[in-house]
Amino acid sequence: MILVVGSTGSLGRHVVRKLLKRGESVRAMTRDRSKADDLKAAGAQIILGDLRDRESLEFAVRGARGVVAAAHSILGRGKASSKIVDDEGHRTLIDVAREEGVGHFVYTSAFGAAPNHEIDFWRTKARVEKYLEDSGLRYTIIRPTAFMEVHAWELIGKAVATGKRVVLFGGGTNPRNFIAASDAANAVVLALRIPELRGRVIEIGGPENLTGREVVATFEKVTGKRAKVSALPLPVVRAGATVASWR
Ligand SMILES: NC(=O)c1ccc[n+]([C@@H]2O[C@H](COP(=O)([O-])OP(=O)(O)OC[C@H]3O[C@@H](n4cnc5c(N)ncnc54)[C@H](OP(=O)(O)O)[C@@H]3O)[C@@H](O)[C@H]2O)c1
Repeated sequence: MILVVGSTGSLGRHVVRKLLKRGESVRAMTRDRSKADDLKAAGAQIILGDLRDRESLEFAVRGARGVVAAAHSILGRGKASSKIVDDEGHRTLIDVAREEGVGHFVYTSAFGAAPNHEIDFWRTKARVEKYLEDSGLRYTIIRPTAFMEVHAWELIGKAVATGKRVVLFGGGTNPRNFIAASDAANAVVLALRIPELRGRVIEIGGPENLTGREVVATFEKVTGKRAKVSALPLPVVRAGATVASWR
């Protein structure tokens, strides 16, 4: 049985469905059962759990031969802060997996994770990667680029399609790489299946780098609508992030 933490997320849903399709038994963890009705209908066992609650993790991990960590709380504040969920919560999950004798731990990090990254979230990813590497568990680390369902569609395409204003951070002139969450999920599933992928850090991305403005232009072409675009200069974005981190 494979435990998927973050089973209701953009990535986790694909992972659960792909594993079930391969005939795997899957335990899908969520904090809110109602978010996982579709996963239950697809054949997953649903379990309540929270990365901030060690006991719930012990319960969720028990009997799992593999754990997929595909959760994050990048925008969380207070008790749901990234420090508590993404850093401390994932260390607890790794500790519990080791204690329970899990055979393989797949951690979804992020492309660019580095101890000296200018953004705290990417430093956290690097810290958790290191913690996992030193844990003694068999592991694979997957570092995907930005999920296009979120960063191209939710943050840009949807606004173009519905006539709302698109806000491009930093002017939208920096090329970025996007990957479909389902492709990232394929990498997770392969990591669980292929022994050669154990002990590896795998960076994975899509075929093209596009600027925010190019993404806008693509959606304009597809929808036939003209986008209303505002650009937020990077210093403003940075100042906003700093203020937000004080709260
Ligand atoms: N989005 C991207 O562009 C991107 C790019 C590269 C890497 N990644 C990484 O890929 C993974 C999946 O990201 P995603 O975008 O698919 O996530 P997402 O759609 O934002 O979903 C977040 C998931 O995290 C779970 N979660 C949040 N707080 C939790 C907590 N305290 N305890 C347990 N679970 C909690 C949520 O589960 P419930 O609400 O059901 O409890 C949900 O399933 C993450 O590790 C992320 O950092 C994402």
